[in-house]
Amino acid sequence: MKFAILTGIVAGPLVVLAQLNALAKDAGLLYFGTAVSPSDSSDSAYYKYENDVKNFGQYTPDNAQKWDATEPSKGRFSYGQADSIVSRALSNKMLMRCHTLVWYSQLPSWVSSGSWTKDSMTSVMESHISNVMGHFKGKCYAWDVVNEALEDNGSYRQNPFLKALGDSYFAVAFKFAAAADPAAKLYYNDYNLEYFPVKADGAVRIVKLVQAAGVPIHGVGLQAHMTVGRTPSRENLTWTLNKYTALGLDVAYTELDIRIKPLPSNASSIEAQAKEYVAMVGSCLDVPRCVGITVWGFSDAHSWIPQTFSGAGDSCLFDKSTKPKPAFSSVSSLLASASGKRPPWNTASPPTGAPVPTTMITATTSAAVTSTAAATSTVAATSAAATKSTA
Ligand SMILES: *[C@@H]1O[C@H](CO)[C@@H](O)[C@H](O)[C@H]1NC(C)=O
Ligand SMILES: *[C@@H]1O[C@H](CO)[C@@H](O)[C@H](O)[C@H]1NC(C)=O
Ligand SMILES: *[C@@H]1O[C@H](CO)[C@@H](O)[C@H](O)[C@H]1NC(C)=O
Repeated sequence: MKFAILTGIVAGPLVVLAQLNALAKDAGLLYFGTAVSPSDSSDSAYYKYENDVKNFGQYTPDNAQKWDATEPSKGRFSYGQADSIVSRALSNKMLMRCHTLVWYSQLPSWVSSGSWTKDSMTSVMESHISNVMGHFKGKCYAWDVVNEALEDNGSYRQNPFLKALGDSYFAVAFKFAAAADPAAKLYYNDYNLEYFPVKADGAVRIVKLVQAAGVPIHGVGLQAHMTVGRTPSRENLTWTLNKYTALGLDVAYTELDIRIKPLPSNASSIEAQAKEYVAMVGSCLDVPRCVGITVWGFSDAHSWIPQTFSGAGDSCLFDKSTKPKPAFSSVSSLLASASGKRPPWNTASPPTGAPVPTTMITATTSAAVTSTAAATSTVAATSAAATKSTA
């Protein structure tokens, strides 16, 4: 399906056949991608759009590479659904962001309820990481090695890895990952990292722990599950991204959606959403080491939000009938207007970090308030993601 978009909503260039990944690459990003689920094929319009590399240049499996899927019992590995997503991506000439290895949620009970010593947990982590990454070796552009290790107040989230190894588990996980697939970009990935400083300080601490151990870490993934009315400004987002790139890392928005609450949405909330998508995508364009953007599904018919956040929804670029929304047009126009302003992303020699602007914002109370409000609205995210996997 091709969409002839007349960008009537903004005074911008006429974008004919707007195709997000093609536009993003012209604007100097490596990809514009989407999360994919094995069930996507049941919606033919959606599936057809998903499979065109001009639209999406990168896939992230929503659940298929999580621990409960890949190693449901100790030492027994299963890759069926993940294999089909990875081979579809590669035959479509798309990149894979592979997701995820060490995470407290969607863990099989043999891990979550096991009783572990430092040595036994280290060996379980090594076996899991080396088998799973080894299986997909050479096929994943990036791996989310550690996912959601932080509480919203910036402290380390309790999980079986922390319990057995203390904060050394971060470096241990990245060390095994680097050994298993030396070419993959290794990421720390979490939500609410867009709001400096409360939780983001914790992510900076994790990065520094891994670096201090002499172990490679290449990027911070900001999930970017946002809420209309609470998305920071483009400038504030850029400032935050630069805090991570100043550590010598790439950044990426890995699970972008911007939910509307309360429903029903209306013309003004849909228009606000379009502007907030522009702030998100614009901040990535503003940061030379922002690699790309992945949306967590692209139509309101397939979004995880309504089951997870009661009363919220309509978070995607396309509506329930896979028709483009104002957010799709505004993102397309933004990307089109950025064409040629950055050099093409060169994986062999990625851009170096930009200096951190010192005058933009400091850690103020209002930033903290924003962060806390957002945090409150996302606490249920991961347990609901777990529920989703069984659906
Ligand atoms: C941070 O939040 C967690 C989870 O709510 C809580 O258990 C912990 O006590 C908090 N730590 C601080 C220092 O407030
Ligand atoms: C940007 O950050 C400043 C300083 O923390 C804050 O006062 C302001 O409200 C933020 N604006 C947005 C839209 O995020
Ligand atoms: C549109 O929805 C928002 C909430 O998302 C609400 O605050 C606003 O009053 C609504 N506007 C109209 C015109 O209904």
